[in-house]
Amino acid sequence: MFGPDSRVVVVVGAQWGDEGKGKLVDVLAERADWVVRYQGGANAGHTVDLGDRSFVLHQIPSGILHEGVRCAIGNGVVLDPDTLFEEIDGLIQTGIDVMGRLYVSERAHLVLPYHKLVDSESASSKAIGTTGRGIGPAYEDKVARRGVRVLDLRHPKRLREIVTKGAEYAQMRLARNASGKTIDVEGVLAQLERIAARLLPISEDIGLTIHRAIKSNASVLLEGAQGSLLDIDHGTYPFVTSSNTTAGGAAIGVGIGPGAVDRVLGVVKAYTTRVGNGPLPTEFGEPLQTEVRKLGNEYGATTGRPRRCGWFDALVVKYATRVNGLTDLAVTKLDVLDTLPELQLCTGYEIDGEVHDEFPSDVSALECVKPRYETFAGWQKSTATARSLEELPTAARIYLDRIESLVEAPITYVSVGTRRDQIIGL
Ligand code: GDP
Ligand code: IMO
Ligand code: MG
Repeated sequence: MFGPDSRVVVVVGAQWGDEGKGKLVDVLAERADWVVRYQGGANAGHTVDLGDRSFVLHQIPSGILHEGVRCAIGNGVVLDPDTLFEEIDGLIQTGIDVMGRLYVSERAHLVLPYHKLVDSESASSKAIGTTGRGIGPAYEDKVARRGVRVLDLRHPKRLREIVTKGAEYAQMRLARNASGKTIDVEGVLAQLERIAARLLPISEDIGLTIHRAIKSNASVLLEGAQGSLLDIDHGTYPFVTSSNTTAGGAAIGVGIGPGAVDRVLGVVKAYTTRVGNGPLPTEFGEPLQTEVRKLGNEYGATTGRPRRCGWFDALVVKYATRVNGLTDLAVTKLDVLDTLPELQLCTGYEIDGEVHDEFPSDVSALECVKPRYETFAGWQKSTATARSLEELPTAARIYLDRIESLVEAPITYVSVGTRRDQIIGL
């Protein structure tokens, strides 16, 4: 992905999240100088399997496992400082050198205990099936201009005023949801004072840092969280997260110009999954649902919830190619399909008797979709040891070729197992 003409690369989920972004970022970070997260927060769970050890990263960029790669959390992220330090300390305990190479944007907004409380107590969060990490309420406060930013920790008087205002609003939300929980403002302020001592020394203007890095020809990876169909504008609204997960969000969430981005890699599974509520047109029935969930170990990396599984949906990924401007595609988890005798690939949606080949904007249309499928022979051989396209069974190559032509983006990587080395770089 990196070369003389491509220094800044965005990695974005091109389905409903959990596509294997963590794995791809880890693989690509080998040649990166910087890895920067640009949106979301601790709702993300990015798994990196080194072979002997496996890590799930929630807020720290997946480049942290490569010595010498510098990592940053951009202004677009809503940062939970409490769990950030749990994550940092966990990595340090396993011998990963974090300090001195992890930086945080002073403009990033903080997720505070009352955001998590509102998220876990509110009926609307339950209807969407959020992760309960306080993401929606923290972004709400940001947009309503009552959010707390990292840099506010430098100004205790101002911090007290903003936290008091934010807590009052959150308390009203709790009351409206008939929750008996109360917010302890003094407790929040005391916690922030403790955290400030660790957070402020690693906070800076990340937009400026990355601007300078790009000017000095550094290779920069911008790591997205969630997936394009969970984007607040382009996803299956209202069953979405509260940030712009798509590539356009990368420039804003890091603080660089959009023209700085050279390539956009979309990560997709060889099938589809979704965790949480909302439409999933190609969702499997039983017994395939249980079988593929087991084969793919499809349980949420953050909440442990079972993921809903379905066939690959070309309309979804063609749409993601368009809204992200994908220049490249990584297809992961091909090995999960190794034992299936037959595969289906969705190429059209039948809605009220009419066939569509573009993804609709309206969730109510999605709820009555009858997917149109093309059927493919399974390869029924292990792909786990393949390291080149030629080593893949012919049936697997036919399946991948069809995906490539339908979604209108070239496949640059195929992943055939959880480990770093289980990848085909085309
Ligand atoms: P992310 O949120 O996009 O980083 O993805 P997650 O880490 O939440 O979920 C992807 C899961 O699939 C993780 O458990 C990965 O270890 C696993 N994974 C990634 N690539 C492959 C692959 O090619 N084959 C298999 N079997 N598992 C994979
Ligand atoms: P990664 O980065 C999959 C889903 C939740 C819920 C919706 C809104 O690991 O791919 P939120 O807590 O963000 O307000 O929940 O979004 N969701 C994810 N699904 N992968 C994720 O992250 C997700 N982060 C949020 O399940 O449906
Ligand atoms: Mg995940």
